[in-house]
Amino acid sequence: MEIFDLFGEDIITEHQNDKNKQLRSDKQQIKNELHRQKVVQKKKEKKKKIKQQKYEIIQTLETQEQKNDFVHSFKGLRNQRKENGMKSLQSPFRIIIDCGFEDNMSDKEQRSLARQLSELYTENRRTDVPLKLYVTNIYPILHKYLEQYHYKQWQLVSDEKLFTDIEEFQQANIVYLSPDGEEELQEIKEDEVYVIGGLVDRVIIKNATLNRSRQLGVRSAKLPIGQFIKKSYKKCLNVSTAALMISGWLKYKDWSKAFDSIVPQKFKEQELQQQ
Ligand SMILES: C[S@@+](CC[C@H](N)C(=O)[O-])C[C@H]1O[C@@H](n2cnc3c(N)ncnc32)[C@H](O)[C@@H]1O
Repeated sequence: MEIFDLFGEDIITEHQNDKNKQLRSDKQQIKNELHRQKVVQKKKEKKKKIKQQKYEIIQTLETQEQKNDFVHSFKGLRNQRKENGMKSLQSPFRIIIDCGFEDNMSDKEQRSLARQLSELYTENRRTDVPLKLYVTNIYPILHKYLEQYHYKQWQLVSDEKLFTDIEEFQQANIVYLSPDGEEELQEIKEDEVYVIGGLVDRVIIKNATLNRSRQLGVRSAKLPIGQFIKKSYKKCLNVSTAALMISGWLKYKDWSKAFDSIVPQKFKEQELQQQ
């Protein structure tokens, strides 16, 4: 008797589908593990390179006093970052990264979001005006990618809840930043909390955060950067750059200066070439 006769074609197809699904999931797991190992390896290499550079600089210094000064200044830089991290937790300027866009992102984009959050955390500790950062709506896959950067040790607030469910923000004056925002942001105020969409969209999803702000019943605003960028699709900054524009404005009280100091040179050069 044919096997089809015993189980029926549907059952066999279903079985094959399950097998394919399992195979895809195994493949994804191997890919993720390889990526994790690559990140760890890169970090090790970076550490080794810095150590080597430090050693080479020390070799060029003549006196013991110069060598001691150099070592101290290096330590000073590290301590200053730690201090800035502490300062950021007390900052009156609060920024929420709302990571509620899991369904809009591919696996690669979610990994990229974790990397951008790590960049933002590092840069925020280097800026003159560190912001108090909240990363909210962290979902399991993002948590896994963020763990590669040891995010639980970061000096910021992380939460799985949606920001509107967090008590601190229930009465707050919220402004959701969106490239499609209804108004243009003029200045940064202490009594307002700014939300950035934790969304990496290689192909721009129009109105993603505008719609979200409407659903959540909060104001939306765009950064006033249109005058510095000609191409409309380029008016969409990535997560970390958008957040750092806020500390840039707090430093210069001027959007043009903030843009010049924060937006990467590469981005501006591409813009010039395309004019
Ligand atoms: C890569 S963008 C995502 C763009 C997405 N299509 C959207 O609708 O928001 C990441 C986030 O940075 C912020 N952002 C980027 N460019 C902005 C701009 N010109 N004005 C206001 N916010 C901006 C927004 O919060 C945005 O969600």
